[in-house]
Amino acid sequence: MADARTPKGLFIETYGCQMNVYDSERMRDVLAPLGYAPVDKPDDADLVVLNTCHIREKATEKVYSEIGRLRAHKERRIAEGKGMTIAIAGCVAQAEGEEIIRRAPEVDLVVGPQAYHKLPELIARAARKTGERLAADFTAQEKFDALPARAPDGVTAFLSIQEGCDKFCTFCVVPYTRGAEYSRPLADVIAEARALADKGVREITLLGQNVNAYHGGASFADLLLALAQIEGIERLRYMTSHPVEMTDDLIALHGQEPKLMPFLHLPVQSGSDRVLKAMNRKHDGAFYRDIIERVRKVRPDVALSSDFIVGFPGEREQDFEDTMQLVRNIGFASAFSFKYSPRPGTPAAAMLAQIPDEVKTERLLRLQALLWEQQTAFNVAQVGRVLPILVTGDGRRAGQKHGRSPYLQSVHFNDTAAQNGDIVSVRIEAATQNSLSGARLARTPEVA
Ligand code: 5AD
Ligand code: SF4
Repeated sequence: MADARTPKGLFIETYGCQMNVYDSERMRDVLAPLGYAPVDKPDDADLVVLNTCHIREKATEKVYSEIGRLRAHKERRIAEGKGMTIAIAGCVAQAEGEEIIRRAPEVDLVVGPQAYHKLPELIARAARKTGERLAADFTAQEKFDALPARAPDGVTAFLSIQEGCDKFCTFCVVPYTRGAEYSRPLADVIAEARALADKGVREITLLGQNVNAYHGGASFADLLLALAQIEGIERLRYMTSHPVEMTDDLIALHGQEPKLMPFLHLPVQSGSDRVLKAMNRKHDGAFYRDIIERVRKVRPDVALSSDFIVGFPGEREQDFEDTMQLVRNIGFASAFSFKYSPRPGTPAAAMLAQIPDEVKTERLLRLQALLWEQQTAFNVAQVGRVLPILVTGDGRRAGQKHGRSPYLQSVHFNDTAAQNGDIVSVRIEAATQNSLSGARLARTPEVA
């Protein structure tokens, strides 16, 4: 079996949500003691991991076409006497593991999202060509208990605190692929956050499919408060949250805790009450608007983000117009929007009134045009302001640094002195749809 004395190339390709980004980092941590170090392309990799997403059709299709592409790399490496282990991880692995093993002989092993701690064993078995090639039958608790210490590679990090979901929105596979709602114990979360702070992390984004449903020994708001006490942690964020879990204490915290960043990703999915009901979202448009109003009252500069689905079964033009109206009323700083994609086994996939693809496409284009307009307007509104920017690395050009605004915007600014992890004052001079640029202020009191 490989160990630290025999360096091996690791190439992880990540699809889907932030949760998968976190999981990929953790797989890298699990594999480091075996001698695996990241490489830039699959041709240099002894082990390729596809960390897959099952949430929409396209994401699943991509997995099979990527496996096809990897076959050529694998054959080339075998011809050179090097070999390549191909592992499929993530939600497609969980949902279709046995089928992948049947359909794709070049895949050596399949590992579900709660079984990453089993990777070393599966890799060793694959090398010996003996035993199980599939590990999917574990709980989140088993996984977290067995994972090694974090090895972050920057000043920002994700921290998974909650996995799975019991909400059963009728369009969504998560309750089936990621399983029942599970919250990590408070002490474990705090210990992981402290370890990240000790290794130079300044900004933590708490992750969960329903992150604000957290109940691992404290309320979600109390967890945030506890994390804000950790020395070195300057900024806290969270995603993805559910509107019905926006409790009074969490809303109040947005006005009280300066380390909690003024950015809220709160998916609404649709602006139509009929559609929200059919989606089993457990809230209507008025409920969502009320939460936004209350958050804005305590934190007027909060930037809002959401997920939207267009073309859900039965969505009429008027329902779609209700979504557009909600977007116009609220105003979003960023958003993700998708065409509804029927997922086998979910209730919505069996609904009769499926919407033709052309209609979905046409609605998506209209919605995205509006959302992009709002995102650009939000960015342009920062021009002239001085923002506290967390320095994350070097910029594109010489003499530039790169960082992140409180509103999660990417910022390039002129400066050479700032160190990664500093929070510096930057005057914003220009904005595009996707980023800001400016210059660091000289000799001004730094903002926290
Ligand atoms: N079709 C389209 N979008 C979906 N999402 C979840 N399931 C589906 C589906 N079947 C979107 C939702 C969710 C985001 C993570 O993905 O908007 O919030
Ligand atoms: Fe899926 Fe709904 Fe759960 Fe979010 S709340 S993970 S959309 S079932």
